[in-house]
Amino acid sequence: MTNLKWWQEAVFYQIYPRSFADGNGDGIGDFVGMTGKLDYLKDLGIDAIWLSPHFPSPQFDVGYDISDYVNVAPEYGTLDDFKRFLDEAHQRGLRVILDWVLNHTSHLHQWFLESSSSRDHPKRDWYIWRDGRNGGPPNNWLSPFGGRAWEYDATTNAYYYHYFLKEQPDLNWRNPEVKEAMWDAVRFWLDMGVDGYRLDAIGTIYENPEMPDHDGALTDDLRRKLNHGFPAGTDPDVIAAWQKIYHYQSGQPGVHELMQELRRVVDEYPDRLLVGESAEISYYGDGTNELHLLFNFPLMRTNRLTPAWIRANQHSRLSQLPPGAWPCNTLNNHDASRVLSRYGDGHAARDAAIARTSLALMLTLRGTPFLYNGEEIGMSDYHLTDIRHFVDPPSIMYYHQEIANGVPPEEALRRAAKDTRDRCRTPFQWDATPNAGFSPVGVRTWLPVNPNFADGVTVADQQNDPSSMLNFYKDMLCTRKESPALISGDYQALHETSKEYLAFLRRSDSPQQTCLVVLNLSDQTHQIDFELPASNARCIFSTQKPKNALLSLNGLEVTPFEILIAELHSAA
Ligand code: GLC
Repeated sequence: MTNLKWWQEAVFYQIYPRSFADGNGDGIGDFVGMTGKLDYLKDLGIDAIWLSPHFPSPQFDVGYDISDYVNVAPEYGTLDDFKRFLDEAHQRGLRVILDWVLNHTSHLHQWFLESSSSRDHPKRDWYIWRDGRNGGPPNNWLSPFGGRAWEYDATTNAYYYHYFLKEQPDLNWRNPEVKEAMWDAVRFWLDMGVDGYRLDAIGTIYENPEMPDHDGALTDDLRRKLNHGFPAGTDPDVIAAWQKIYHYQSGQPGVHELMQELRRVVDEYPDRLLVGESAEISYYGDGTNELHLLFNFPLMRTNRLTPAWIRANQHSRLSQLPPGAWPCNTLNNHDASRVLSRYGDGHAARDAAIARTSLALMLTLRGTPFLYNGEEIGMSDYHLTDIRHFVDPPSIMYYHQEIANGVPPEEALRRAAKDTRDRCRTPFQWDATPNAGFSPVGVRTWLPVNPNFADGVTVADQQNDPSSMLNFYKDMLCTRKESPALISGDYQALHETSKEYLAFLRRSDSPQQTCLVVLNLSDQTHQIDFELPASNARCIFSTQKPKNALLSLNGLEVTPFEILIAELHSAA
């Protein structure tokens, strides 16, 4: 395809290293395990991997609390294991981007240990330290992960700021030495050949320097509506209440300049990628000078993927992009409920159809898709049944908070289990042996395995079943790869008032192709008349119709939940 970068053509797949494949049988995923699954990923048809943090970490936030930016967590392997993984991925034509946490380090990072050792230490100013006020913290700021955003440290009789956990002290990015140290670490992996970075939590890098008290109120009701601190839905009152509390702690000036600086570092290397964990379109900069990609998070922030929701999202998102900027879509990650659980309604066949439509959407909308490991076999959320099995700290805090509020323990457990991010982080299900082939039988895995591995939710069960979710993924990924319009084409919404099906065109110039995409999101059959500069089309993918079937565009029938992609024949 003319002039497209690799990351514009690629389908990304997020690996959560702790849960993907356990190569040494200790109950925790690792690089030997991941390397052994590269053929599986190649065969699946993805092009690039986003690896959640693999760095040494005390794992308070499952690796998002990094204690050494230039090494590998010993439980995941060695630097050599990493290099082998990268090499083997590259040999198969798979790119690899890393997860880079800028906002904070672990409290056990050498930088923080030094910074907290004395008020005069040269690294004191690498973090955000303040004196207390009236015997308490410097102001009333909160951490969306629970409790205050300040932690008292007796060694120097001062407080340090942490937006996330107290084990995740915020770096002071106004200190140029912090930048230099970070950029050196960024170069370390780029020198080794990694293809770019996913940038964690960029919106919270700076705080208002005056540090005024917020005047919001975190009520119990609001706390329950927040999904680990982030408004998960679209309720304007919840969003407004959230902003009132956190607006001094996020979205502050300075991030653009910092991202531009980082972009210059990354541009020292040919063809690398930066994707920001933010929905903020402004971080594309002028389309060339900040981040290459930003996630279209608004699309996933709903309980129902309706045609109207998707169309409105595309209309708003695509129209806001600066010239040259490339969209990026996702419905999943390690923080979110899995698609089956989020958009399904508990009716197995319908839920499976909805999960398939979700993939179809990702692979046919304009932009780079990001998929999450396990979705391809239809993994669903697992609701933990014992608080001792929880790992995700905000949910453990939430559980105790609910109990302190008088909620009965079973109900507190139910609420925490539904909300905890552990729900989507359970070990990958490779086969139907106990432990789902993730770890050897008898080993205690770091999170319990979802018992539905016994019901066919495994790679081994689905591999040879042509009607499985896994083979659906492979077919769709292959269709996308073979359809230039789906990768590079523009997007034109059709039948914009339909509440039941989504229809749109994707049209590319070089090579020339026009694809009609129809996703029937209802359980009704529809006869649709398309007025297009072609009267018929060739089916290139359908969950119902034979491939290559010639279809009339007048009275085109789509069956319940059908996914149809057809190539238009040019006007006669
Ligand atoms: C991002 C990560 C999340 C993590 C947080 C703090 O939102 O996706 O998993 O807990 O940043 O690093």
